[in-house]
Amino acid sequence: MQIHVFENAAQVGQAAATLIAAQVLSKPNAVLGLATGSTPIPAYQELIRLCKAGVVDFSQVRSYNLDEYCNIPEDHEQSYRTFMNVNLFNHINIDIANTHVPNGNAADAEAESAAYDAAIAAAGGIDVQVLGIGRNGHIGFNEPGDSFIYGCHQVTLAQSTIEANRRFFESEADVPRQAISLGIGSIMNARKVLLLATGADKAQAIRDSVHGDINPQVQASILRNHPDVIFLLDKAAAGLL
Ligand code: F6R
Repeated sequence: MQIHVFENAAQVGQAAATLIAAQVLSKPNAVLGLATGSTPIPAYQELIRLCKAGVVDFSQVRSYNLDEYCNIPEDHEQSYRTFMNVNLFNHINIDIANTHVPNGNAADAEAESAAYDAAIAAAGGIDVQVLGIGRNGHIGFNEPGDSFIYGCHQVTLAQSTIEANRRFFESEADVPRQAISLGIGSIMNARKVLLLATGADKAQAIRDSVHGDINPQVQASILRNHPDVIFLLDKAAAGLL
């Protein structure tokens, strides 16, 4: 694994955007695995800048997001579909039909999950997977547990995740309790993985992922077995390494 430590979150975003842009330049119809949350926002802002400057062309790019909440409308202001449209897709020349987010309102979550994994496989697999990390070491919504779950699946969010995401909702009661998430196998199948972490509240999860046992209690620790994973950290997130 490679670990790069930067001065601040803006530099982490620039580094991530540069690596994503390089992928799109070398393969114009690249398949990007994308994450939501606060961490990738600087990277998405830099990608928007590079697209507007004519450096990167997203017209043939395909994207698959990591996860989506269950039981909130797709156009809810806190849905991950809305997040992606507002923070990236509406500002770049990607064809919105080529952007994919799991359907958190599917009547049959198991069938939706299987179809999502199959769609990624049919697209040729993910070239670059962008990840954030939860304070509890989750990636996607793969929460600490007794095992690594391979495929896309419906998850019940950990209480710590509900508390972390409470800031986006009016009250804790409004935070969805379930989501559909890519599984660990789906993430590990990506050809390249970029894990972004910024801020001191991620330092313990980063330390556990890099130096602890490979253990489903810290789901990100499995990334040490990936052949091409790059951790892009600011100084605060790297503070316990
Ligand atoms: C988002 C996702 C989550 C977040 C993680 C960190 O699609 O799957 O794993 O990456 O919860 O969130 P932030 O960046 O808001 O700290």
